[in-house]
Amino acid sequence: MELKNAVRQKYGEAALRVSTGGSSCCGAASGVAGCADPITSNLYNSGQASQIPQEAVLASLGCGNPTALAAINAGETVLDLGSGGGIDVLLSAKRVGPTGKAYGLDMTDEMLALARENQRKAGIDNVEFLKGEIENIPLPDNSVDVVISNCVINLSGDKDKILQEAFRVLKPGGRFAVSDVVVRGDVPDEVRRSMELWVGCIAGALRDYDYVAKLAKAGFDSIDIEPTRVYNVDDARQFLVGEGIDADAVAPQVQDKFISAFIRAVKPITKECCGPACCS
Ligand SMILES: C[S@@+](CC[C@H](N)C(=O)[O-])C[C@H]1O[C@@H](n2cnc3c(N)ncnc32)[C@H](O)[C@@H]1O
Repeated sequence: MELKNAVRQKYGEAALRVSTGGSSCCGAASGVAGCADPITSNLYNSGQASQIPQEAVLASLGCGNPTALAAINAGETVLDLGSGGGIDVLLSAKRVGPTGKAYGLDMTDEMLALARENQRKAGIDNVEFLKGEIENIPLPDNSVDVVISNCVINLSGDKDKILQEAFRVLKPGGRFAVSDVVVRGDVPDEVRRSMELWVGCIAGALRDYDYVAKLAKAGFDSIDIEPTRVYNVDDARQFLVGEGIDADAVAPQVQDKFISAFIRAVKPITKECCGPACCS
């Protein structure tokens, strides 16, 4: 609960900064002065950014660009777990077109208000922002074609529950297509224990092999983890500094261990049992 409240407070404040004309520092707003967050900056190209309101781009706090990497087809239903200011939901809505639908799910009221305002500015109808927790998705079983998410699963203390829920709402054959921070190898305990680094998407990151094992346990197959950014010692120093951690000592120990990755998996299509002969 303490963790969830800290996450809600941090991202509520970020939403308010954008709503009052600031940036989420740094979001995907590559041109914003003073913003050089190695995780969240420069994720979207100008072709994508020009399709949606500037406020949605400024509110971006992801660590990847799932809609650029995921297969999303006209007429499909997409669900974004932890949709924030709505950037990936609005881009998905454009991809699925008027016969499809894009849902965003977020627990933070300020983010939901910002996302709905961004939807209004974009003039996009086939979008719905839902309030709720990604550990208890408020959608029926087998109702979604693609589950996307951008730097949110690493914030949760119950990753197994999220993956079970993603599996439940996906249709058979549905795709899990998520950007997340992932760890390769061991990282110092002081990094793992830091609440600030947890709410900043670092300390709660899963090891790559644990991610694969948890997805398999939830029932997924065709699991793949593709690195999209590898954080070097200078990047590490940036996210450690100011967190009460000796950045100079710890940064070299985490060099190249934190990565942003695109994680894919598929909910298998199970054959209906039609009689003793066809199920063997
Ligand atoms: C790092 S931001 C990412 C936002 C968005 N995906 C993006 O790319 O800009 C995390 C978002 O996830 C939401 N969030 C975090 N944990 C959540 C949970 N357990 N349930 C629902 N929303 C959550 C936060 O409120 C916040 O809006």
